[in-house]
Amino acid sequence: DGEIFKYYADGGWRKSSSGKSVAIVNPTTRKTQYKVQACTQEEVNKVMEAAKVAQKAWARTPLWKRAELLHRAAAILKEHKAPIAECLVKEIAKPSKDAVTEVVRSGDLVSYTAEEGVRILGEGKFLVSDSFPGNERSKYCLTSKIPLGVILAIPPFNYPVNLAVSKIAPALIAGNAIVLKPPTQGAVAALHMVHCFHLAGFPKGLISCITGKGSEIGDFLTMHPGVNCISFTGGDTGVAISKKAGMVPLQMELGGKDACIVLEDADLDLVAANIVKGGFSYSGQRCTAVKVVLVMESVADVLVEKVKAKVAKLSVGPPEDDCDITPVVSESSANFIEGLVMDAKEKGATFCQEYKREGNLIWPVLLDHVRPDMRIAWEEPFGPVLPVIRISSVDEGIHHCNASNFGLQGCVFTRDINKAIMISDAMETGTVQINSAPARGPDHFPFQGLKDSGIGSQGITNSINMMTKIKSTVINLP
Ligand code: G3H
Repeated sequence: DGEIFKYYADGGWRKSSSGKSVAIVNPTTRKTQYKVQACTQEEVNKVMEAAKVAQKAWARTPLWKRAELLHRAAAILKEHKAPIAECLVKEIAKPSKDAVTEVVRSGDLVSYTAEEGVRILGEGKFLVSDSFPGNERSKYCLTSKIPLGVILAIPPFNYPVNLAVSKIAPALIAGNAIVLKPPTQGAVAALHMVHCFHLAGFPKGLISCITGKGSEIGDFLTMHPGVNCISFTGGDTGVAISKKAGMVPLQMELGGKDACIVLEDADLDLVAANIVKGGFSYSGQRCTAVKVVLVMESVADVLVEKVKAKVAKLSVGPPEDDCDITPVVSESSANFIEGLVMDAKEKGATFCQEYKREGNLIWPVLLDHVRPDMRIAWEEPFGPVLPVIRISSVDEGIHHCNASNFGLQGCVFTRDINKAIMISDAMETGTVQINSAPARGPDHFPFQGLKDSGIGSQGITNSINMMTKIKSTVINLP
């Protein structure tokens, strides 16, 4: 009906003075579903100024009160799960059940963060000087954790709510202000989530949500002198941000090419179930998706047959029907995925299913006999396409995994725990899962990528710590 959703600043909903909007295209219908405000640089300046003022007062608000507000926001978020999930279905074509799960998981994450924050921010350290050579016991050092200031949170389209709150909640409990720039696809879900924080009663200006075109406000936000920390999840943009950002701490979760190494003694039914879940959930649009299978040649035929049978059972269609495979987020994404598939075809990969596409909907494809000269062996499709590379030794698998520019997660399947641990040690990734597909959760586990997969570590505890600084007070005795 032409409504343009307002952005959130200084405790209220506002129209941009630009008079312009950004369209959110429904990946399924490929028609404009919603519109959001195209905010201006001037509006960014105002939000930054308000955040700075609000943060000072917030940092002085007792920790237990900050936690209380977060618990309230978590409860409201869960109450609003249906309308927020509806936005996720329309904006990013997330299957309806997964969309509800994302919101519930987000509520749980916010509550857990409040609890964890109360514990870890409620204690500091006490040190004495005489343990270091040459010192008497004449200096006492007291440390505490203080907030960084204004945190800029930039989540990706695939979890516009969950990967927003995983930045917002740690920032707030630690006494920081938040400026959120949601992804365009998912912006309305994010605005609705922010509405839940608004209803919880956070002070004016402490939280704001700026929508708009990356080309107009992206660099302006990330290079803004009012920003004291950037927490970003997404793709290559993160590399560009890290080069342009000033001297502020960065928390980055970027791409992945998570390998699944399958040994000869593995439980192949377990492996097949994990490959299908890990490779094809949300149509492969997860940074932690299984993105390459490295299987020992002697068990490859059996495994491929098992996976093939499961892929055939995946339902393909609209997210409203809760299908397993739904349209990928945009036409350009579908075109990119198709490019990888065509390259593999030209170079002789075996197609376990026929390649099929209608609009942004791509049917799931398992590609067998993939070789290292194919792009799909290295690149991240972010779609329902999974390559299988047959290996003749475990070392070959580890070598392929480590030759990647990414290093997010990986997994190994074997019944031999000693081998599993040795392989885990050898894999250059932030996490290795033994006998399960890669995954970020449970959300209090550390989550981090090596190489081009990221900077810093996440997970609830690490994020709270990352969004604070240590402050010392030294008492010098006479
Ligand atoms: O897309 C990146 C997410 O951090 C992955 O989260 O493992 O819960 O799907 P997930």
